[in-house]
Amino acid sequence: MCGVVGYIGPRQAAAILLDGLRRMEYRGYDSAGIAVLNGTGVKVHKAAGKLANLEREVSDNLPSGTVGIGHTRWATHGAPNTPNAHPHTDQSGRIALIHNGIIENAGAIRKALLQRGHTFTSETDTEVLAHLVGELYQGDLEEAVAAALREVDGAYGIAVISSDEPDLLVAARNGSPLIVGIGENERFVASDASPLLEHTRSVVYLDDGEMVILTRDGYRVRDLEVKDIDKPVNQIDWDLATIERGGFEHFMLKEICEQPESLANTLRGHLLEEEGTARVSGLNMTDDELVAVERIIITACGTSWHSALIGEYMIEELARVPVEVEYASEFRYRNPVVNERTLVIGISQSGETADTLAALREARRRGARTIGLVNVVGSTIAREVDGGTYLHAGPEVGVASTKAFTSQVAALALLTLRLGRLRNLSILQGRQFIQALTALPAQIEQILAKTDEVKVLAERFFTGNHALYLGRGVNFPAALEGALKLKEISYIHAEGYPAAEMKHGPIALIDENMPVVFIAPRDAVHSKIVSNIEEVKARGGKVLAICSEDDSEIERLADATFTIPQTLDLLTPILAIVPLQLLSYYVAVRRGCNVDQPRNLAKSVTVE
Ligand code: F6R
Repeated sequence: MCGVVGYIGPRQAAAILLDGLRRMEYRGYDSAGIAVLNGTGVKVHKAAGKLANLEREVSDNLPSGTVGIGHTRWATHGAPNTPNAHPHTDQSGRIALIHNGIIENAGAIRKALLQRGHTFTSETDTEVLAHLVGELYQGDLEEAVAAALREVDGAYGIAVISSDEPDLLVAARNGSPLIVGIGENERFVASDASPLLEHTRSVVYLDDGEMVILTRDGYRVRDLEVKDIDKPVNQIDWDLATIERGGFEHFMLKEICEQPESLANTLRGHLLEEEGTARVSGLNMTDDELVAVERIIITACGTSWHSALIGEYMIEELARVPVEVEYASEFRYRNPVVNERTLVIGISQSGETADTLAALREARRRGARTIGLVNVVGSTIAREVDGGTYLHAGPEVGVASTKAFTSQVAALALLTLRLGRLRNLSILQGRQFIQALTALPAQIEQILAKTDEVKVLAERFFTGNHALYLGRGVNFPAALEGALKLKEISYIHAEGYPAAEMKHGPIALIDENMPVVFIAPRDAVHSKIVSNIEEVKARGGKVLAICSEDDSEIERLADATFTIPQTLDLLTPILAIVPLQLLSYYVAVRRGCNVDQPRNLAKSVTVE
């Protein structure tokens, strides 16, 4: 999703902005631009497509100036072309503005501005906002921005500069994240921490409805009326090395390979083996409050929704609390039955997904207690929920979520243990679950050691444009996630299904050209899934099975197998997903796809 970056300080802004945009490329975008105050006016450069196009455009002629804003745009209003790229200027050309989000009443404002003689060069809602700020400008940029935002409905994270006030940068947020970076005589603003890290670790997280006024040596946060707001300064502990590729060809591969460590980090400090339980102190709930929970709703989007489904299996099986899993985008507009005895869990890697945030807000409004399982520290969801736990998976830069998924499932396992031990789960069952969890990082290492096998399977199986992923029980969500990984980065149409559902429709697709990936570990439904493999083979389908070691039955049936170590049934998705992530990765690489930034996708979906 769009990336916003702004700089004011003693250094040349353009290079800092371009570097910042480069670090935010992972968010997903389709055009880019910068604007710099050059002493006489605002110098704007924009280009459609990748950042390299913009860099080419400015390479001989880097605009000079120490205040500027930069943007990567993920198209919402209008095509991804150069005129629609940000920054946009007002009618006078002296104010430049960048924006992440959607201005919902832009149509009406545009119409009114047209009647008052404004002319527009793009189809964007952002240009409308820039013109509105310009029209309200009477020598005070801060006031003009506040006045314009008071007229606006929708979501925004904006940054604005004016050549009439060359020592100022104004930014504001409502629904789209913004972080202020505080350096030595310099200030930054950005959509996330990645462009800031090489300059400073001291940050201020803006909340909805807040504006910040940045100068070289100061900053002030206020609301859209007149009230100043005191904000704490936070320290970020991620370092630059953790967001760089470290020798891997792609971030996705690096992040797949980091899973032994990221998973261990998620579990670290939480497991109480002696008592067979987990300590999740961030929940901010007493034992009595946890026991009083009658129902759990888990809400999320995409990959996080898949981990939520696995959570449903775990919590119902071991803690015996009824669980429903809801797409956040559906939950937020339904009339859900929620009360103070409902625990609503939001799962989000970024902590900024607009639908998940809105679903949690709605749940809270209806009296439920909300908790978040979130990766990005200081993100909006993490700050708004009543409690929760961070995943500690480290920054995930590849657009396709990998290590966050396994960490989400691990965090759900911690929650399951905590809830289960307060109910019917015995100490011995708890200890057994902990031992299995503790073994997972080393078991993932074993799988990663066989990466070359996956490479061969990727060559052999995925030659067409379709694939089916089947699993049963807790591995049905793993099948959904495997299929999502393949489609999003290789553009092969892939579907995940509960294996037994296949005969209610998808079986019609089976022929010798349809690769079918089965997740078939030796678990409680093993004999059932063997029957499903037989059904596919009987129709000439090509079967690749992810199965347990020494499973001669499946080895006999399947065209190829990839074995995973034995674990508890409920934890098998954490192991089964690793070869599926690798498979998607190698298929996408072979097809020449942009693995880390797949077309049309955004890392952090901050619009609904
Ligand atoms: C898929 C993927 C997306 C995200 C979804 C939710 O690989 O990355 O499906 O899982 O957009 O994002 P978060 O977890 O940040 O809320």
